[in-house]
Amino acid sequence: MQIHDTIAGLRAALKNAGRVALVPTMGNLHEGHISLMEQARSHGDAVVASIFVNRLQFRPGEDFEKYPRTFQADCDKLIAAGVDHLFAPVETEMYPRPQGYTVAVPKEQDGILEGEFRPGHFNGMATVVMKLFQIVQPDTALFGKKDYQQLMVIRNMVQDLNLPIHIIGGETIRAADGLALSSRNGYLSPDQRREAPRLFETLTKVVDALRHGNIDFPALERDAAIQLRNNQWQPDYVAIRKKSDLQLPAAHDSGLVVLAAARLGSTRLIDNLEV
Ligand code: PAF
Repeated sequence: MQIHDTIAGLRAALKNAGRVALVPTMGNLHEGHISLMEQARSHGDAVVASIFVNRLQFRPGEDFEKYPRTFQADCDKLIAAGVDHLFAPVETEMYPRPQGYTVAVPKEQDGILEGEFRPGHFNGMATVVMKLFQIVQPDTALFGKKDYQQLMVIRNMVQDLNLPIHIIGGETIRAADGLALSSRNGYLSPDQRREAPRLFETLTKVVDALRHGNIDFPALERDAAIQLRNNQWQPDYVAIRKKSDLQLPAAHDSGLVVLAAARLGSTRLIDNLEV
């Protein structure tokens, strides 16, 4: 695997690389990321991973400083997964001056769910993804469905800005007990780690109820949040939404997704299940 820390070096290496598949990450790689790298192989002659902890998408007081940086272990995993190129710039390579031009995510996507609880997060995320797209110029880019709203924002950005990039969403990879793999799981204490699968179990119950024809969405969301609260969680939301645009569904809409974000101690976890 070639490791590039400059944009010029990466661009030179990709000049005659053929079709390029990109998997952007912030590092601290787990099986979820590796599964995207493996899928990328069938979409590109060259598979490029990026590792960059993007300050712009963290709010003040969030975990930018303590976000786990595990570069050597990440490189070992990428080599084992057969990745061809790693782009791992330092901050001044990506942001040599304060970022003036940014991507503004429309209110109907930025003002709901994660956007409501993390104002500015999606603008920062979309800005760095746009920069990565310009730098790497991939034919295909892959993102995990665990960050469901992020995937939707990226798909819409690509469509609205006519970027010639095929976006692929990879299925969420879970631990044996159901917990969705996430870099933030590493913040959990042993007791919290034992409790953490409740988020998935709670979503599963909502999905089961929906599949059995229960369409009282507010009651299902409320009961799920209560179940979490009764077990020491602080939920930001449990929400039943349309998969297509994450807006509120009408009673008999199909194509639903149930999304949740909740804090266990100081760790904020998100998860979702398609119905
Ligand atoms: O999902 C992530 O790891 C990040 O949000 C991304 C897409 C790499 C942008 O920084």
